[in-house]
Amino acid sequence: MVAVSQVNACAGCTRVHERWALRAGVSSTELEALQTGDLEHLDPRSRAAVSYAVARAQRRFAGSASAGIESSAREHLSVRELKEIEAVARATALANLSLNTLAARTRSSGTGAAQHPVFARVWSHISGKVGSDKQRSELLAGLRGRVLEVGAGDGRNFVHYPPEVSEVLAVEPEPYLRRLASGAARAAPVPVTVVDATAELLPHEDGVFDSIVSSLVLCSVVDQEIALAELHRVLMPGGELRFYEHVIAERSLGRSVQASLDGSGIWPHLGAGCHLARDTVGMIAAAGFTVEQVRRFTSGPGPLGLPFVLGTARRRSAHR
Ligand SMILES: C[S@@+](CC[C@H](N)C(=O)[O-])C[C@H]1O[C@@H](n2cnc3c(N)ncnc32)[C@H](O)[C@@H]1O
Repeated sequence: MVAVSQVNACAGCTRVHERWALRAGVSSTELEALQTGDLEHLDPRSRAAVSYAVARAQRRFAGSASAGIESSAREHLSVRELKEIEAVARATALANLSLNTLAARTRSSGTGAAQHPVFARVWSHISGKVGSDKQRSELLAGLRGRVLEVGAGDGRNFVHYPPEVSEVLAVEPEPYLRRLASGAARAAPVPVTVVDATAELLPHEDGVFDSIVSSLVLCSVVDQEIALAELHRVLMPGGELRFYEHVIAERSLGRSVQASLDGSGIWPHLGAGCHLARDTVGMIAAAGFTVEQVRRFTSGPGPLGLPFVLGTARRRSAHR
C-alpha cells in the first residue's frame, strides 16, 4: 500500500500506510526501501510482491506488468496471492484517487463547478450560445452504441445524439445543472441516464463504453491528467473520445494573456474552475489516445475570440 500510494503521488495516504506498516511489524529498513524504491533490502518474496503491485499501479491496471516482473511474481507468489495483491493495489489506487481529488478540490475551493451555483444558473442561459447546435451535431455525428458524456451540464447535447446510439450515461456534478439535464434526458431521442459523478472518479467498470463525449469540460476538471486517465480506463480499446473544448492559443501573445488570466485566479473563479491556457489536445495524446482529427476555430468577438478544438481521438490499446 505504501508503494502504490507513492506511485499515485498521494502523500496523505503514504503517511497513513507507513504508520500502519510500522504497527504491522514492517522494519524501518524495509520501510526506507519502499520510500526510496531501493527494493534490494527486501526479501525476494516481498520484493516480487511490491514490484508487481507497483507495476500494475503504474499501468493503471491495464495489460500486464513487464515480463521480468510477471515471471518473478509467479516464481515467488501463488495465483491467489497475486489476485489478492491486485485487489489491494486497486483499492489503494482508488482511495489515492479520491483523496487526491478531494485535496485538489479543497485547494481550488469555490472554483469547482460542483460548488458554483451562480455559474450553473448563468451557464443554463448561455449554453446554447457558447456551444452552437451546429457544433454539437458535428461533435456527435456518427456515434453508435454505448456512450459516456462527462460534465453534461444542462443536457444541451442530448437532442443531437444519433439514433444508432443505444444508451447515453451522462455524469454531471453540479446539482442545478444535473436537474436540468435529467429533464433534457426525458426529451432525448435516445435513452439517457444522468448521475452525480466527476470525470476524475467515474463509477463505471473498465472498458465499457464505445465512445466518450467531452464538450467544454476539460477546461474545468480539477485535474486533467487524472480525468483523462479515467476516460481512458472506462473506454474500450479502440473506442473514440469526441471532444469540443476551448484551448490554449497558438500565438505567444494570446498564450500569455490566457496564462495570466488563469494565474490571477479571476477567470477560474468566474468560470467555476475554467482555465483558458490548457493544452487539452496535448494532454489527450499524453493520456494514451491517438488524436485522429482536430478542427481548430476561433469563436467570439474579433481579437477577444477564444481558440476552440473539435475532434476525435482513439484509445490506443490496453496500455497507456
Ligand atoms: C461549461 S459547462 C459545459 C456543459 C456541457 N458539457 C455543454 O457542452 O454545454 C462545464 C460543465 O463541466 C462540469 N464539470 C466541471 N468539473 C467537472 C468534473 N471534474 N467532472 C465532470 N464534470 C465537471 C460542470 O458542472 C459543467 O456542467
